[in-house]
Amino acid sequence: MDINGCAALVTGGAGGLGEATVRRLVADGVNVVIADLADDRGEKLAADLGDRAIYVRTDVLDDASVAAAVETAQSRGGLRLAVAAHGGWAAQMRVLGRDGSPMPQQLFDKTVALYLSGTFNVLRQSAAAMARLEPQDSGCRGVIVNTASIAAFEGQIGQSDYAAAKGGVVGLGLAAARDLSAVGVRVVTIAPGTFFTPAFQMEEEEAQATWGSSVPFPKRMGRPAEYAALVATIVDNDYLNGETIRIDGAQRFGPK
Ligand SMILES: NC(=O)c1ccc[n+]([C@@H]2O[C@H](COP(=O)([O-])OP(=O)(O)OC[C@H]3O[C@@H](n4cnc5c(N)ncnc54)[C@H](O)[C@@H]3O)[C@@H](O)[C@H]2O)c1
Repeated sequence: MDINGCAALVTGGAGGLGEATVRRLVADGVNVVIADLADDRGEKLAADLGDRAIYVRTDVLDDASVAAAVETAQSRGGLRLAVAAHGGWAAQMRVLGRDGSPMPQQLFDKTVALYLSGTFNVLRQSAAAMARLEPQDSGCRGVIVNTASIAAFEGQIGQSDYAAAKGGVVGLGLAAARDLSAVGVRVVTIAPGTFFTPAFQMEEEEAQATWGSSVPFPKRMGRPAEYAALVATIVDNDYLNGETIRIDGAQRFGPK
């Protein structure tokens, strides 16, 4: 697809992977809606990027809020790309604590709501907007990029909620791609390894020592711009659909 002059919506657009995606899309001539809850970072990013970017405070768990972000994008050249890159929270608890007590159910539900239900909320409302657009010459009306994690396949100790939510995002991909084939909307899932972003809540040097050293090659954490480059490739290549693409430097998580 060529989405130059069209619009994109990026949830978590003020976060690490989201911001890199927003910057890449603006550089590629796309009008971007930064859909996030982080007002300060979102407003600042939009101001940095000029007219092509706008911040719309968005909670992916709130229907009306997502609808407003989608409509803003639709009015800025037609929504052709939705990237779900929100997140940054997980319980980080084992199923059973040291004292044998089970992890609270509401923490599991909170994680699944944020990553899986929130992603579906963005997908379903974006797809409806894309379906109202004329198809491009290729027949494609739009593309939805969801963000899973390699934890969907290799969930580590303390990641039961996160791994289950991300596994759900992987499962969603093909089913949604099949549903949306009727309207020419593609769905592609990215499963990142470890990318240095604010989600790690530590200095880069420490994060690289902890996480980068276990990556076969390149022996470092991923760069958010590399995630953004994959989004651009997915947009560009109409034959990518219904698949989950790992971007992880051949990293495979062990139990810890
Ligand atoms: N960084 C990594 O190594 C990595 C690896 C695998 C998967 N991922 C996934 O990529 C996505 C982005 O990760 P990141 O590292 O950029 O995180 P981040 O914490 O840097 O950014 C996440 C952004 O999402 C926003 N957000 C949180 N809740 C929201 C909500 N309800 N509605 C809208 N926005 C909300 C936050 O304000 C933040 O700006 C997440 O889904 C994460 O699980 C990241």
